[in-house]
Amino acid sequence: MIRIGVLASGRGSNFQSIIDGIKEGDIDGEIVVLITDKENAGAIERAEKNGIASEVVLRKNFESREHMDKEIRRILDEKKVDLVVLAGYMRIISPELLGPYENRIINIHPALLPSFPGTNGAKDAFEHGVKVSGCTVHFVDGGMDTGPIIEQTCVRIDDCKTPEEVAAKILPFEHATMRKVVANFSKGKYLIEGRRVRYERQKD
Ligand code: GRF
Repeated sequence: MIRIGVLASGRGSNFQSIIDGIKEGDIDGEIVVLITDKENAGAIERAEKNGIASEVVLRKNFESREHMDKEIRRILDEKKVDLVVLAGYMRIISPELLGPYENRIINIHPALLPSFPGTNGAKDAFEHGVKVSGCTVHFVDGGMDTGPIIEQTCVRIDDCKTPEEVAAKILPFEHATMRKVVANFSKGKYLIEGRRVRYERQKD
């Protein structure tokens, strides 16, 4: 049983996919805290509905990003979190948080990395005219969507007419991919060998 901490900035549909994965018995874990950097994040309501503790950590209350991340680290430490999931958390993580949680922070990105990193992955893929895009779950390092890749799912986007359509088409695949990776984390371990990531299931 792993203890999961989720960081989210928005509506929290990826957060919901982890909640559902636990409820439906795929993930052997518990979400012990939701941390958000937005007072009005939809994710907060989802936490309330599911009896999950939530904390709002606002950038404006800290003199620097590093101070903010120290506070997030304090909360994660206090909750004894094993795995940190960035589920639509729109900030770069500083070394204050990255260091102690090295190889235990994962992120979902709405494109096939290393193509189209950054905050507009779906839109950038659409504008570039790629026919196939998808989503990526990866370990978080100090860069922008640059950490070792854990899992990817391809989605054809050549039938999409707007960037919004691309994002909407990819979203359910994000949910499934995130859920699968978190389930795997709860039942084994991901080993990082250089940039390559290999999964080893725990023996029963
Ligand atoms: C997702 O598309 C995620 O890949 C991106 O932001 C969106 C968050 O959606 N980084 P949600 O808050 O999980 O619904």
